[in-house]
Amino acid sequence: MNWPDFLSYDLLRGLHIIAVIAWMAGMMYLPRLYAYHTETAPPGTPFDAHFQVWEAKLLRIIINPAMTVTWLLGATLIFWHVYAAGEGWGFLLQPWMLTKLAVVTALSGWHGFLAGARKKFAAGQRPKSARFWRATNEIPFLLAVVAVLAVTLQFGAR
Ligand code: HEM
Repeated sequence: MNWPDFLSYDLLRGLHIIAVIAWMAGMMYLPRLYAYHTETAPPGTPFDAHFQVWEAKLLRIIINPAMTVTWLLGATLIFWHVYAAGEGWGFLLQPWMLTKLAVVTALSGWHGFLAGARKKFAAGQRPKSARFWRATNEIPFLLAVVAVLAVTLQFGAR
């Protein structure tokens, strides 16, 4: 398969990292909003309505598109390795890549959990305590550390 020139590996990789930054920033900010929302804005108050708008916009404008673009570019990088570089699908079976895939699956699951929590806030519920949102705030950061080190160290590479 001929790989189009404009899809250079370095360009794809740079855009992938930019999308990752937006995704991670959003996922680290949203639980902060949930903590303040839980603590300071009882259901039905004007402040509750403000938080709902901020949370919905953060998910719709930043977090959801950033995750989509991260996955699309990540998948394109995989295709680049498999086809353009001729490494075959065995590329995915390297320990560092398996680790990366496990971490990005966990990150995507956490994303889904946060999106589900937004719906509960909008329905007037307070799904978890403010303490829970503060304690779990660093989950995306810790997972990102593993994802980045997996790709930079490439342990167990063929
Ligand atoms: C969501 C699904 C994702 C997929 C399918 C994916 C896949 C990939 C692939 C195949 C590469 C190229 C690796 C190489 O050629 O050495 C790559 C690069 C990279 N990925 Fe991802 N990735 C995803 C998400 C993430 C996330 C969430 C992070 C960080 C939190 C991340 C950080 C990076 C970095 C920093 C690089 C560049 C490494 C380098 O060039 O040295 N990726 N990704």
